[in-house]
Amino acid sequence: MGIIKPLPDLLISQIAAGEVVERPASVLKELLENSLDAGATRIDVQLEEGGVRLTRVTDDGAGIAPEDLPLALARHATSKIGSLDDLERVASYGFRGEALASIAAVARVSITSRHASQAHAFRLRSDADAAEPAALAGGTVIEVADLYFNTPARRKFLKTEATEFAHCDEVLRRMALARPDVAFSLSHNASAKRRLAASPDAGDASEGFARRARDILGEEFFPHARALDASAGPLRLSGLAALPAYSRAGRDEQYFFVNGRFVRDKLLTHAARQAWADILHGQRHPAYVLFLELDPAGVDVNVHPAKTEVRFRDARGIHQFVFHALQRTLAAPLSAAEGSAPATPVFVPSAFSYARQAGFAVGEPAARPYLDFARSAFDAAAADADRPYSTMSAQAVGSRDEEGAAPRLGYAIAQLHGVYVLAQNAAGLILVDMHAAHERILYEKLKNSLDAGAPATQSLLVPLLLSASETEMATAGEQALALAQLGIAIAAAGPRELAVRSLPALLAGGNPVDLVRSLLKDLAEHPASRVLETRRNELLATMACHGAVRAHRQLSLPEMDALLRQMEETERADQCNHGRPTWVQLSMPELDKLFMRGR
Ligand SMILES: Nc1ncnc2c1ncn2[C@@H]1O[C@H](COP(=O)(O)OP(=O)(O)OP(=O)(O)O)[C@@H](O)[C@H]1O
Ligand SMILES: [Mg+2]
Repeated sequence: MGIIKPLPDLLISQIAAGEVVERPASVLKELLENSLDAGATRIDVQLEEGGVRLTRVTDDGAGIAPEDLPLALARHATSKIGSLDDLERVASYGFRGEALASIAAVARVSITSRHASQAHAFRLRSDADAAEPAALAGGTVIEVADLYFNTPARRKFLKTEATEFAHCDEVLRRMALARPDVAFSLSHNASAKRRLAASPDAGDASEGFARRARDILGEEFFPHARALDASAGPLRLSGLAALPAYSRAGRDEQYFFVNGRFVRDKLLTHAARQAWADILHGQRHPAYVLFLELDPAGVDVNVHPAKTEVRFRDARGIHQFVFHALQRTLAAPLSAAEGSAPATPVFVPSAFSYARQAGFAVGEPAARPYLDFARSAFDAAAADADRPYSTMSAQAVGSRDEEGAAPRLGYAIAQLHGVYVLAQNAAGLILVDMHAAHERILYEKLKNSLDAGAPATQSLLVPLLLSASETEMATAGEQALALAQLGIAIAAAGPRELAVRSLPALLAGGNPVDLVRSLLKDLAEHPASRVLETRRNELLATMACHGAVRAHRQLSLPEMDALLRQMEETERADQCNHGRPTWVQLSMPELDKLFMRGR
């Protein structure tokens, strides 16, 4: 008597369904994909009780012919591919012919559809034998009711209604980002949650995408986003990447699409992470919406039941391409936006979005200090108050510029409380955090000089002596080589005394004692070998911080102008090493608003 028995069909389907239908949001994802594959231009979603009670998706797509209705619910039946060859270059969302069958194994499904060839619509319920005539003007309505009614064990894993709804909403957001040409609406328990208009076909596609991205990601994301569009051979990466001034505590605003399909892919996430590594604080996460396009033959989408993972043929090449494209976008110096190279649209960070990000609602009492600050900044700027701004700007710009092209960050007009540089450019007022900006410039220069070999050093005629703790003495000995490579020659001058004989020339203006102490402290925490490979950038950041102009140092106008010009030329100069902005633009309209001045 054998003990191995074949499983009943329903049980087989239910087991398979477990992989595809993890929760209501997975049902919604499959239904949306089917509607898009059917060429829909508008999709309406109605949910009840987080999608568990009901998920109804109505589309205006091609519809299903009545003879195909039973096949739509059958396993391994699809209209989308017919051969292995097709599978290898699949361009539709669906290809397994499994989604509806899996859903029908764990819920009550009804399909109402009217194919263009038919005089009326037909409806097929998953628990009925045959389709019946129904009323529908066109397209398809799929209803999935009572999810997991026959698999109570799975129902227990469902979270609260609000959580399940949130997952459904997220699925819709992803689809909507990928398809700005399609209109979407979403309601939950009969209350409208989203209404997204389709972007008209005419005109620039990226404009439609920008509008959709604004709808989905909100007003805060936008001012910090840089658009990118890079290609290399058959690869293309486009979309929006947020500068570090807009970062997130989690990965919730990371959208990566491969050939229009939302994916969570380790390789792509890693490439992105690396591109931001240098400019984003370790605990923060970047925000982006990115579309990678490549020959479908170069990517296998059939590796995960929910199709959220992919496998690339040329993983290394893709990683390199994505990393470099992003890094270039994030690093583009400010002046590049005006150069002759194809301009990357730069959304100039606005002071008001920083204020909002810091939790201020402009106009509310909490915004006061910020507004006062902005106002006093402007007062200082407008020392020449009896002249209208326009002539002031013409004169200021004209007086220092021979070629006639006004620099992007303008010309310095004053220094505020020893902390901020005020400059005037064509758009209005620029405020620069002088320490943060200088720090960034030094950091990039130090990196470049180290990349090019050894940094230029400056020998000290009289060695600099500093008293040192036992740990500092030991670290200086162990890390002498690393220090030398960083441009610092240091040796014991006594049992508790160190002598510094040379410093990197770039840092000559800073406070060498503090610099050496901080470096020794950093180095003490890490093993001597390989410290330069593993911690190089942190060490350079420490050095840059100490080399940068301190607050309260009085700068002359030419010194401030020099700082502005260096910022324009330096990669990633828009953020300090900690991801904070180094400058802010207050445009004339923004200033006018502060003074309630209509123009
Ligand atoms: N909204 C719809 N409009 C038109 N046809 C549809 C729609 N939904 C499903 N179909 C038809 O039903 C078939 C089965 O759908 P199902 O989602 O089960 O499989 P699939 O999309 O082909 O593959 P996958 O399992 O990968 O999603 C599809 O191939 C398609 O022909
Ligand atoms: Mg499908």
